[in-house]
Amino acid sequence: MLDSFGRNIDYLRVSLTDRCNLRCIYCMPEEGVRKVHHDDILRFEDILKIVKAFSTLGIKKIRYTGGEPLILKGIEGLIYETSKIPGIEDITITTNGILLSDTTKELKRAGLKRVNISLDTLREDRYRKITRGGDIGRVFEAIESCIRIGLSPVKLNTVVIKGINDDEIEDFINLTKEIPVEVRFIELMPIGEGRRYFKEGHIPSEEILKCFPELIPLQADIRGTASLYKLKNSKGTVGFISPLSCKFCNTCNRIRLTASGTIKPCLHSMDEINIKNHIHNEIGLLANIKKSIFNKPGEHHLEREGISRSLKDMYQIGG
Ligand code: GTP
Ligand code: 5AD
Ligand code: SF4
Repeated sequence: MLDSFGRNIDYLRVSLTDRCNLRCIYCMPEEGVRKVHHDDILRFEDILKIVKAFSTLGIKKIRYTGGEPLILKGIEGLIYETSKIPGIEDITITTNGILLSDTTKELKRAGLKRVNISLDTLREDRYRKITRGGDIGRVFEAIESCIRIGLSPVKLNTVVIKGINDDEIEDFINLTKEIPVEVRFIELMPIGEGRRYFKEGHIPSEEILKCFPELIPLQADIRGTASLYKLKNSKGTVGFISPLSCKFCNTCNRIRLTASGTIKPCLHSMDEINIKNHIHNEIGLLANIKKSIFNKPGEHHLEREGISRSLKDMYQIGG
């Protein structure tokens, strides 16, 4: 379905939970977050109803995110049921990868096509610091397992923060010589805990690109978030996601569903449409979804305002 700016919205990102088994420093506060009660979270059967309604309006791609989606029991079943919905062509997840290696085969069998894995460092001790306790070995095992069984291309999401991991940019780029992954450097956004690091830590993609003239530009998918590059003879690629320095709002094709049952038409706007109350009323559900797509804001204002207007933080939206 087209929104009021003529953009074709065909990609739904569903945050399944705001809980996470890690607490990355730029995402979750040290003390953790207040747990939302299970009754206030959409159940899988509710999510399937909502995804079905979205699919009738032209949604083709579903991404399950979190918090961390793999902490939920039965996610393979959700993926399987989603894959049976007419019109859904692509099902993917965004995960921190900690629980992934145990379940790659089941996920693929259920209908998962690809995974995006958040990985901000390649160093064991630094990973433990950034994630406040995570074991990087589990993530490496997951990456290997995804490549081995063909859950690919594997995309690695690396949020670059000055003074935290910017000394590893070259190592990440060199990783693409060895393994067929897409390393994607993400500009830090001033949302949630990210606001604490933004002023000192934000690095525009252009600054990184200047230091690596050996990166060859590739034709990127214009509806994707990343601009793509490659080293000569490498197995993988390097992407840059630049929501501030190279805004991609005018080609945005996405809409979001939060675990608490609201539609978030834009990552950075205040608007949320509660559809939890319409789950048992098909007509009301469709009408509200249509309204939320049509009224999707044209763009964010991060570069001008320096702060996200979103009332929800990244762990509640799933990126
Ligand atoms: P692909 O479908 O594989 O290209 O993935 P994706 O980029 O849609 O999803 P992913 O969850 O890997 O998102 C990567 C990062 O891009 C997120 O962590 C966000 O930081 C950023 N991002 C994704 N969607 C949006 C968006 O609509 N607006 C902005 N500003 N940033 C976004
Ligand atoms: N800016 C950019 N990306 C962020 N993420 C979390 N917080 C931020 C932020 N402030 C990323 C995570 C993960 C994805 C879902 O969102 O690293 O890859
Ligand atoms: Fe969890 Fe992802 Fe936030 Fe890290 S960035 S705390 S892995 S939701």
